[in-house]
Amino acid sequence: MTGVLTARPRGTTDILPPRSEQWRTLEERFREVCRIWGYPEIILPLFEHAELFQRTVGEATDIVEKELYSFPDRGGRLLALRPEGTAPAARAYLENGLHKGPQPVKLSYVGPMFRYERPQAGRYRQHTQLGIEVFGAAEPAADAEVILVAVEVLRREGLEGLSVRLNSIGCAGCRPAYRETLRHWLHPLLPGLCADCRSRYGRNPLRTLDCKIERCRQALGQAPRTLDALCDECREHFQEVQGRLEGLGLPVTIHPDLVRGLDYYTRTVFEVMHDDLEPSLCGGGRYDGLVEVLGGPPTPAVGFGMGLERVLDLAKTQGRSTRPDLFLAAADEEARPRVFALAVEARRAGLATHFDFGGRSLKAQMKAASRLGVRFSVVLGQRELETGVAVLKNMDSGAESEAPIAGLAGAIGEQRGPTS
Ligand code: HAM
Repeated sequence: MTGVLTARPRGTTDILPPRSEQWRTLEERFREVCRIWGYPEIILPLFEHAELFQRTVGEATDIVEKELYSFPDRGGRLLALRPEGTAPAARAYLENGLHKGPQPVKLSYVGPMFRYERPQAGRYRQHTQLGIEVFGAAEPAADAEVILVAVEVLRREGLEGLSVRLNSIGCAGCRPAYRETLRHWLHPLLPGLCADCRSRYGRNPLRTLDCKIERCRQALGQAPRTLDALCDECREHFQEVQGRLEGLGLPVTIHPDLVRGLDYYTRTVFEVMHDDLEPSLCGGGRYDGLVEVLGGPPTPAVGFGMGLERVLDLAKTQGRSTRPDLFLAAADEEARPRVFALAVEARRAGLATHFDFGGRSLKAQMKAASRLGVRFSVVLGQRELETGVAVLKNMDSGAESEAPIAGLAGAIGEQRGPTS
């Protein structure tokens, strides 16, 4: 089998059981953390006007310049599959008038994002983010809370070896002067830098700081640091964020070269890393100017996005037990309609039930029952139909007990106990 009909597009994945179960469990746990920490869910469109991302994430970023899935629709509008959730959340915050209500507005989301990246381990063209955003909160406590939510989600997955990288990249007040200082410093080094960095030099020189190419990293090792150029307010803000986190015993490391790949950030930026994974599990930060860029009032905001697939790969999250409760087997043809009806009844009573659609011998049916790993099995034949009593077999212990067919679901429920 070859060709596009039997191959998914590069960078996408099919999520089969049991990974699909683990996936849903991780989502449920994330939603539970969001419930406890006060982040109700917002469900956003998968596509938006391309301009939304061009204006916020930034024209000169990889995400927009190289990776955006944008396309004209049949009405001639330029749309884009969303590459991230922050700009759509900000758009929705404004469009739905949430900025006029009580602040802050705290939201969470779960869903696919699309980036035309070079696929490799942990990097997909469709990936899924678990994200939260806080709109209308300038206080360092909001930054600290957002970082703590990220760590809480990861800890609940049993992940150890986590580290939080933190930096501040300043605000609209102090960043322009820093940008000029950096540009001035970079100028003599330009011929030795990669093509991307040379182009970043003109458009957004900060992005040169997190270039992954070794010769650029070496050349930029001594570059002026955003932290040394912060205004008093930004410095104080950053110290308080650190103080809040350290006060709770959360170790953070300051990474002066952390600038993140999206243009909307101001002040706090952070990433959560795992010892066993090179790319980040989670990235986020403050974006105090974004809502204003969209035409709204000045609105300080902060949030994160976490890569679900990356967390799942590391966490080995256990899915809910998928072990079925019951296999109903038919000893002869006459029993089949009764088995069918009984299976429907058992399922309606909440028991995960299997039976054979028809044709297979009793032996083959019992083989299927063991392959499925069911907890109980029942064989219905002429005798059972006549007496109305069946033998319920516990497939683990082999123990057998009699139960009236009419009360089978209850008898199994009692013996099974709560499912995990
Ligand atoms: P981001 O760092 O671009 O930030 O993405 C957030 C997370 O999504 C990453 O840490 C990573 O785990 C995951 N991720 C990103 N791209 C891929 C990919 N190609 N394959 C697999 N996983 C990926 C944002 O998107 C910001 N909107 C985060 C944010 C929210 N900042 C403030 N609020």
